[in-house]
Amino acid sequence: MNILILGSGGREHAFAWKIAQSPLCDELYVAPGNAGTAAIATNLDVSYNDFEAMAVLIAEKRIELVVVGPEEPLVKGIVDYLHARPELKHVRIIGPDSLGAQLEGSKDFSKNFMQKYGIPTASYRTFTEANLDEGLAFLEAHPMPVVLKADGLAAGKGVIIAETAAEAQQSLREMLVDGKFGDAGNKVVVEQFLKGIELSMFVLTDGEHYKILPEAKDYKRIGENDTGLNTGGMGAVSPVIFADSYFLKKVEEKVVKPTLEGLKAEGIKYVGFIFIGLMNVKSEPYVIEYNVRMGDPETEVVLPRIQSDLVTLLTATAKGTLQDVSLSISPQVAVTTVVVSGGYPGDYEKGKVIADTDKTEDVVVFHAGTTFNGNTEVVTNGGRVLVLTGIANSLENAVHKSQRAAQTVQFEGKYYRHDIGLDLLRYKD
Ligand code: AMP
Ligand code: GLY
Repeated sequence: MNILILGSGGREHAFAWKIAQSPLCDELYVAPGNAGTAAIATNLDVSYNDFEAMAVLIAEKRIELVVVGPEEPLVKGIVDYLHARPELKHVRIIGPDSLGAQLEGSKDFSKNFMQKYGIPTASYRTFTEANLDEGLAFLEAHPMPVVLKADGLAAGKGVIIAETAAEAQQSLREMLVDGKFGDAGNKVVVEQFLKGIELSMFVLTDGEHYKILPEAKDYKRIGENDTGLNTGGMGAVSPVIFADSYFLKKVEEKVVKPTLEGLKAEGIKYVGFIFIGLMNVKSEPYVIEYNVRMGDPETEVVLPRIQSDLVTLLTATAKGTLQDVSLSISPQVAVTTVVVSGGYPGDYEKGKVIADTDKTEDVVVFHAGTTFNGNTEVVTNGGRVLVLTGIANSLENAVHKSQRAAQTVQFEGKYYRHDIGLDLLRYKD
């Protein structure tokens, strides 16, 4: 079948890499893709937010399966749009419709949902400009630190962890009154700060059945030892040593099952991935957030550990027959290091020539922000540039492979964290 992947990051290159290995895939397209996806698929120069153009291409290229990488088109309703077109009725799409996408598109919706279905999460209240004074008083009395979250999509920047009541009150005013995050901040969720270790769980569901994919740990901050600004993710590891089978069973019973039951009870037919951001608080899982897509860079360690054919899994997901296919997971460890442009997550330059990706040994090189300059030269085109996944029998060796590759690849101003996975190595001792 002909398959289309929407997106242009490392996550989408990883999807393309895994899907291209399937004998079930005929033509593979990525829109818009990057220099890495161009080597294994056909890039289509269309924005995934241009639904009309997308629909035309899907019909023209006879695409039968669409995998939506990022959350934005899902929250904006791409699934509803495409399914409403009679000529595209047969097209199978991996990703929820706009109702399901609210799990990520509205923090207020997701917190309400968790409360309603008894899913463990931090206690919270939601405020708008109409009850600003109540919000300010609430913060005055709240234990610190406290977490403020813009309700809508804010490109990963909408979460503020305030250390003092004054800071929290200022942030609340900035969001509700000054429009700091635009409409996304018209409602603000104020929640209890949870202290623990974070991990990412991934569920693939057809709306009725589910498969739990390998879990991962993501390194969000720009600086070593988790310091400095938040980023899209600077590295990832799978499996996660502290997520033992006992903990994972708890996650399945207390989080995954009630989430899927809750979606059904709400009348939401959810088809696609659910990324559950969890805090492990003294061996109890609490949901920090839902995302309606796979994580980036988590996908770059999760997919390499999946031994089953991904197209078989995705087709079954879209058809509602996920119970009929098996998911086989490699016991090997995958570690990925993200190599970024100097200055990221602040301002950075683009167009730097990338060299020596061919000199990396034993890693899978996933491209993120890359493009072509002229015909053949690959240059930087974003903050996160390359995502280098090492796979080995031990965490030590996987870290070593990934880090060595990060050292090998070259472009002006490159930066990467040298401590990906080291906390987990220490955790073992
Ligand atoms: P989110 O955008 O919801 O992923 O939040 C960004 C980051 O803020 C998370 O990955 C956590 O590290 C942190 N965070 C969010 N909510 C909480 C919470 N209730 N307690 C502690 N940290 C949190
Ligand atoms: N790596 C975190 C995310 O994809 O949201």
